[in-house]
Amino acid sequence: MGQKEATMSSWSQEQNQSPGGLNPHLSRTLLLLLLSVASAQGDPPNPNACLVFQSVKGTTVNCHPPAEIPRRLPTDTVHLAVEFFNLTQLPADILRGTPKLQELHLSSNRLENLSAEFLLPVPQLKVLDLTRNALSRLPRGLFRGSAALRTLVLKENRLHVLEASCLHGLQALEHLDLSENRLRTLPAGLLANLTDLRVLDLSNNRLETLPPDLLRGPQQLERLHLEGNRLRALEDDLLAPQKDLRHLFLSDNQLAKVAANAFRGLRWLDFLDLSNNSLSSVPKGLWAGLGRPTRDLQDGFDLSQNPWICDGNLRDLFRWLVDNKDKMFFRNDTRCAAPAALKGWTLLAVAESH
Ligand SMILES: *[C@@H]1O[C@H](CO)[C@@H](O)[C@H](O)[C@H]1NC(C)=O
Ligand SMILES: *[C@@H]1O[C@H](CO)[C@@H](O)[C@H](O)[C@H]1NC(C)=O
Ligand SMILES: *[C@@H]1O[C@H](CO)[C@@H](O)[C@H](O)[C@H]1NC(C)=O
Ligand SMILES: *[C@@H]1O[C@H](CO)[C@@H](O)[C@H](O)[C@H]1NC(C)=O
Ligand SMILES: *[C@@H]1O[C@H](CO)[C@@H](O)[C@H](O)[C@H]1NC(C)=O
Repeated sequence: MGQKEATMSSWSQEQNQSPGGLNPHLSRTLLLLLLSVASAQGDPPNPNACLVFQSVKGTTVNCHPPAEIPRRLPTDTVHLAVEFFNLTQLPADILRGTPKLQELHLSSNRLENLSAEFLLPVPQLKVLDLTRNALSRLPRGLFRGSAALRTLVLKENRLHVLEASCLHGLQALEHLDLSENRLRTLPAGLLANLTDLRVLDLSNNRLETLPPDLLRGPQQLERLHLEGNRLRALEDDLLAPQKDLRHLFLSDNQLAKVAANAFRGLRWLDFLDLSNNSLSSVPKGLWAGLGRPTRDLQDGFDLSQNPWICDGNLRDLFRWLVDNKDKMFFRNDTRCAAPAALKGWTLLAVAESH
């Protein structure tokens, strides 16, 4: 890969050229590391220093406990990880001298807030991972200088309210992960400018409804994760613009109603998970265009753990199931809850006897 480990020497030389702000403990650590690299190549890395790699693309710095987090980073740092420290605050100005930073990984800390200026020094940032922190809100304007950001991971935080403008400035975002937060609602227009978004993960929040126009901005979604929320209905509008959607995750909600045209726009769907909801019936026509005879739902579908009422209203679904049974997951957990005469029968057995 053209990467070379243990090139702390060039880092420490660079640091030594500007000794002004260098923490004495840090310079000793650097010196010790430098000596240990020089004298004993192949020894395990010093646990008190961050791992530093250099390549033609720039420097990578990975800090994990018990390493000391450096005050200053090489100016050509393109990748920085400061993870598993349980930090409640980041060292002040940690990004000040790294204008070329492209990836920033801060997972498994305890960050509760970020300053609105935090990302301004790193306009080339492409990946920001804040998984497993304690953020309860995003400051207004946080992303105003983040036009290059492609991947934003805010999984496992405590976000409960988002302002409509909180993602303002993100023009290149392709992957947004807001899973495992405490979101109950989303503001209309939240994603309005994210026209390049391909993957949206809103799973495992507390969402009861979604704004009907939520997905009107991003029209090229390929994966949509909505599982593990409290959604009760899927209306016609939400998915209508998503002609490229391949994978749709709706399991573990409270869906009792799916509107007849809810899946109408999905020309390329390969996978559909509706398991563990409250579906007892579905409208006629819902399945037209999904799976055979039109095309293959090539990665399968899951309708298990729903209280299906196996009466004449499911006739349309029964016909479709027979045509698509090869792609059906958990057939044995996809059973009729009613009427009494069919209770406990699998949907497929009932469909095949029709
Ligand atoms: C961070 O917190 C976790 C859980 O409380 C603990 O197991 C871990 O040792 C802590 N890490 C540090 C570096 O303090
Ligand atoms: C985060 O919040 C704490 C407590 O309210 C405050 O002292 C600190 O300055 C805040 N930090 C930032 C970066 O806004
Ligand atoms: C979308 O972008 C336009 C133009 O930059 C801006 O006026 C608008 O406020 C943005 N909307 C959101 C929700 O970010
Ligand atoms: C079904 O979904 C509920 C949330 O609606 C969840 O609590 C439960 O664990 C899920 N059951 C299974 C078997 O996954
Ligand atoms: C299907 O489920 C029933 C009842 O839950 C169980 O007794 C049976 O062993 C299962 N069959 C298969 C093939 O898994």
